[in-house]
Amino acid sequence: MSDIVVVGGGIVGLSIAFRLVRGGADVTVLDGGDEGAWQVAAGMLAPGGESAYEHPALARLLERSAELWPGFARELGVDVGYDDTGTLSLAMTADDIAQAARVWTRQQLPLLRPSELRELEPALSPRVRAGVLAPHERQVDPRKVVAALRESLGSRIVPKRVQSLSDVDARTVVVAAGTGTAALTGLPVRPVKGQVLRLRGEPGLLRHVLDAAVDGREVYIVPRADGEIVVGATQEERTDRLVTAGAVHDLLRSAIELVPALAELELTETTVGHRPGTPDNAPLLGRLDDRVVVAAGHHRNGVLLAPVTADLIAGLLLTGDTDPMLADFSPRRF
Ligand code: GLY
Repeated sequence: MSDIVVVGGGIVGLSIAFRLVRGGADVTVLDGGDEGAWQVAAGMLAPGGESAYEHPALARLLERSAELWPGFARELGVDVGYDDTGTLSLAMTADDIAQAARVWTRQQLPLLRPSELRELEPALSPRVRAGVLAPHERQVDPRKVVAALRESLGSRIVPKRVQSLSDVDARTVVVAAGTGTAALTGLPVRPVKGQVLRLRGEPGLLRHVLDAAVDGREVYIVPRADGEIVVGATQEERTDRLVTAGAVHDLLRSAIELVPALAELELTETTVGHRPGTPDNAPLLGRLDDRVVVAAGHHRNGVLLAPVTADLIAGLLLTGDTDPMLADFSPRRF
């Protein structure tokens, strides 16, 4: 068995293993084969739009990881869909504008008129009343990222479902098991259901990620270079894996209100994932005890936070140094 075993073959566990291997460590990843949240995730890298401004340390962590993403994507050495065109944050009604304005004011982004928005994104509905361009809110394709990490780690990834950490034969165990972390450690990680759709059309219909309030409902639309368009997401405190008629209806209605041409596209996937939430919805990062280190509970930001999590956890294990950024995310804080 390796010196270090990472339990969890999702985007967080694989990124940590990748960074540890680059640092010269002897690492094995145990992958239980569960569907990770990364399989469903749209891959928005949105430190501002998703930011927990009421949690300044988390906001700093999100910003730091957003800065690391371009280098991390390059390091993976293949196309992982990293795209820095930016995000249009949009509002449809006066109430939607009032709600979005709080975030826009905080981001200090200039308000764009409907004509300016349609110049940037011609497929937008004429009903869109206002919006801002967030150039630092970007995207990556999580499925391509995980494929690249798997390719790089190769035989270090072993298919194995871990029932108890006492069964893991290693000096150090990193638990990066998403919602499965609760059963392995007793830590308060809960599943937060998200339903996400995938459409397919000709490339080029949309240029930007769109993040919008449409008649009071939140929706985001993430266009990929190959014509795939991801539409998400519900946020439900539920553990089931049902794709519900109501959620599909609401997501499509909002998306088509925003971009009417989406009605013509093929609906290729309806999916369900579970974000790993914590009581304060900030991640659990650091030592649980002398042997066990935790990297879990990334909630809505697992893809965005993968590079900074990898750096912080690898730093802790390779050098023994506890980065000051870890102080606010101790797994022992609850
Ligand atoms: N980060 C987007 C989501 O969790 O739905």
